[in-house]
Amino acid sequence: MSIWRVKPISAFEADMKKSTLKRVLGKWSLTAIGVGAIIGGGIFVLTGTGAYYHAGPALAISFIIAGIACVFAALCYSEFASILPVEGSAYAYAYGTIGEIFAWIIGWGLILEYAMGSMTVAVSWSGYFNKLLKIFHLELPYWMTTDPGTANKAFGEASSQIATGTLTEDKLTSFQEIVNNFNSAPEIFNFKIFMNLPAFLIVLLVISILIKGTQSAAKANNLIVLLKVSAVLFVIIAGAFFIDVDNWSPFIPEATQIVEKDSTHNAYGLAGIVSGAAAIFFAYVGFDAVSTQAGEAINPKKDVPFAIIASLLICTTLYILVSLVLTGMMNYQDFNPLGKYPDAIKAPVAYAFDIAGQGWAGLIITIAATVGLVSVLMVMIMGQSRIFLGMSKDGLIPQVFSRVNPISGTPQTNLMILGGIIAVVAAFTPINELADMTSFGTLFAFTMVCIAVWILRVKQPNLVRTFKVPALPIIAVLGILINTYLMVNLSYKAQLFSGAWLLIGVLVYFGYSKSRSKLNNENQE
Ligand code: ALA
Repeated sequence: MSIWRVKPISAFEADMKKSTLKRVLGKWSLTAIGVGAIIGGGIFVLTGTGAYYHAGPALAISFIIAGIACVFAALCYSEFASILPVEGSAYAYAYGTIGEIFAWIIGWGLILEYAMGSMTVAVSWSGYFNKLLKIFHLELPYWMTTDPGTANKAFGEASSQIATGTLTEDKLTSFQEIVNNFNSAPEIFNFKIFMNLPAFLIVLLVISILIKGTQSAAKANNLIVLLKVSAVLFVIIAGAFFIDVDNWSPFIPEATQIVEKDSTHNAYGLAGIVSGAAAIFFAYVGFDAVSTQAGEAINPKKDVPFAIIASLLICTTLYILVSLVLTGMMNYQDFNPLGKYPDAIKAPVAYAFDIAGQGWAGLIITIAATVGLVSVLMVMIMGQSRIFLGMSKDGLIPQVFSRVNPISGTPQTNLMILGGIIAVVAAFTPINELADMTSFGTLFAFTMVCIAVWILRVKQPNLVRTFKVPALPIIAVLGILINTYLMVNLSYKAQLFSGAWLLIGVLVYFGYSKSRSKLNNENQE
């Protein structure tokens, strides 16, 4: 049946020869692309949730488990990159092995990882940027930093709380402030204007860098990566001086239930460690972006596998150390949002330094996250544009996405359309509520790549592979199991919305892509 058609390896090779992208990325630039995409807000934000709601001090083990899940996938990505050094990443790998319908679904799922990931990263960047401004006693008006959905929801909740007439003075003041902020927004035709302006502008800035050329974007990325790795090392080294080893005991707290106002969580013990791995998985999202750049690598068959594995190992080591330092500095129970430090869970790393009397460290972390997230955004948008480029060359999405500007060597129109959509969604929708969907899209792609690598080994054992997954199929099977397990441990909402997204993808495939597929047309000719 035509939906199972497989793109022959020779067709990939022919595409590669025709490619007009410039090959400018070396081994270390590719590694920096991986680190650039991985280290973002995740490590500075999710560690509190991971420690308090899931693993306690054993959060470091959660990071090891999530890291291992990624290593299995990374090995499989690396084998593929050594065979098919093309720009489509998991989408292309599935097209060359499992068949068109799967490739399409994976490509569609990757939109969750890259485009949706970019939107949520742009919104968190805006949060850090506003925090940074506040440190320097500057503040943008509420209507310029808040999307309409969030503003309306906050206004509704605050108004109904005030109407109860039973609030303490503190609470009344803070709810009143929300109402005042809402009322002071400008109006057009009786319609209140709200937008997340910093999120909108940062996307436009990143797009303009990407359009200029991959080489200049890689240079900017290298610089940012240097800065953020230094900041993370700084957190580890400076934090080590404030560790109280008593906070690590017991290292794995006994399994229990955390009861809150309207919910109950199973926490700690072995199950807590594993659910913690799912909760912090977002911090690892990104290393596979290296594989989307294979079309621009100077020596893709060797350097892409190297960069995927190197960037993952570097970040896993840093993450384990950060989580050990954090849970050593502050008792995991102190991240309780209903406890004595209610805000600690929102910015756990900065808070731990504050409590240790080192408030200045908060400034360094805020700067590191603000600058660092720019490179996450850059690599994610770049990744999405290259996946679209691959899908467009295959005829599954409109041709406009595969036009490459002959001077800059970048897919300019593709980047502009993509950037426009990402900027508008980030500015006007409460996208951050759906951040888990990014993890879903990523885990889905990882699982599929583990399946695909195994299939290709069986179907074409003699293909030249400059990198081979050791102990196949064990590694692939473990990769499939652990990534699927993490996927089903994500929030129910994320699973539901992601499932709906994939279903829409199936409809688009049958309604548009199937008949326009280049393979379909070639077969008919
Ligand atoms: N891994 C990236 C982050 O933590 C997406 O922000």
